[in-house]
Amino acid sequence: VTAGPPDARPVTPVGIATALLASVAARLDAADVDPDVLADLARAHSLVGGLDDYVARCTSPASPALVALEERTRTEPWGDGPLEQEMLSGHVEGAFLRMLVAVTGARRVLEVGMFTGYSALAMAEAMPDDAHLVACEIDRRAVAIAQEAFDASPGGATVDVRVGPAAETLSRLAGDGEWFDLVFLDADKAGYAGYLDLLLDLDLLAADGVVVVDNTLLQGEPWAPAAGSPSVNGAAIADFNARVAADDRLEQVLVPLRDGVTLIRRVG
Ligand SMILES: C[S@@+](CC[C@H](N)C(=O)[O-])C[C@H]1O[C@@H](n2cnc3c(N)ncnc32)[C@H](O)[C@@H]1O
Repeated sequence: VTAGPPDARPVTPVGIATALLASVAARLDAADVDPDVLADLARAHSLVGGLDDYVARCTSPASPALVALEERTRTEPWGDGPLEQEMLSGHVEGAFLRMLVAVTGARRVLEVGMFTGYSALAMAEAMPDDAHLVACEIDRRAVAIAQEAFDASPGGATVDVRVGPAAETLSRLAGDGEWFDLVFLDADKAGYAGYLDLLLDLDLLAADGVVVVDNTLLQGEPWAPAAGSPSVNGAAIADFNARVAADDRLEQVLVPLRDGVTLIRRVG
């Protein structure tokens, strides 16, 4: 009962909790369990398991171009490589990013970690034709799918794709005197702290700009580690979140949307 492709594995705290509750319910022998306990379990499953679908139903629909790109990404045979369909942010997070771009009036946007272009296209759809969206991606296969989608969509014309390691791209952008009103960080989690340092130290972030960081709940690992965790990514996110919280140059709020989205801005 979670939103998203039916064959995707759960990659959010809500999705994982839903799967666990379903698994517990399936393993209980109803005849041996107090009916009140079963009723509470069913209610917990319904509350948690229905949340994503309800949020999606109460959110403006994605454009046909975004729906087509999500389907294209879902059906790509990703195999055993580093990329997987679950990386795509999707309907509600895309709508959230588009709303942020619209209400802040951001005209210069940077994305670090584009994948097949879903979040970039969602943001580009809220930007005027003369606005500028730079999207960084290291994987050429992802870039090819994204570029195909951008070429087929009017919103995609705004997107300027930079292929290569994001840290190098950020240094090059700073050297060219570029700066951004809104930055979406969604690449390698171990790189987040370094990307934030580059954004602040090289003045890539406008004085009143906002950094939007994805996966800051990292499947619940920072506060509810499963056996074998924290993973490398879980540890990196826990460190990143602690570091942001301790930095008095910054103000931040972690929004429990999907796998967690933190908004950060400079203060003072
Ligand atoms: C979670 S996906 C991004 C999802 C995308 N923002 C969306 O909403 O669909 C992370 C992406 O970051 C890319 N990536 C990882 N390390 C990178 C690096 N050092 N430089 C640039 N891109 C990187 C990966 O290839 C992957 O496509």
